[in-house]
Amino acid sequence: MNFQTIIEEAKAQTQKAYAPYSNFKVGCAVLLENGVIIGGNNQENAAYPSGLCAERVAVFYAKSQYPDTAVSAIAIAAFQDGNFTAKPINPCGACLQTLLETEKRQETPVKLILFGQDNTHIINSIRECLPIHFNFQ
Ligand code: THU
Repeated sequence: MNFQTIIEEAKAQTQKAYAPYSNFKVGCAVLLENGVIIGGNNQENAAYPSGLCAERVAVFYAKSQYPDTAVSAIAIAAFQDGNFTAKPINPCGACLQTLLETEKRQETPVKLILFGQDNTHIINSIRECLPIHFNFQ
């Protein structure tokens, strides 16, 4: 799979975000090992903590529909003030903890593709981003 396909889907997903409070539209595309691509975007709420980041919208939906199918890669893009961001944006800590659990559950790495207009950052596993994380003992 060419990552350009999921980058384009993440970019398209930004346009369907519901972000009237931050005006920061995040799009996410989850590539499953069977080739299916699931999209998601941030969904905000007037009671701020009730909203959810694009990554968790996409990955929770993907795992709710394909619980036994591994995630191969996740692309993320953001749109602000009429443009895609110049620099890639990184997932927040809560999203990383969620993505890490997906990776642990399937025992294979999830690639992160972080799109920016100036440069796109590729990270080979979520574990690299969150070396110290919460674990049940
Ligand atoms: N946001 C995401 O969707 N993903 C992240 O990893 C960080 C932030 C959203 C949450 C909120 O709707 C907006 O971006 C501004 O924080």
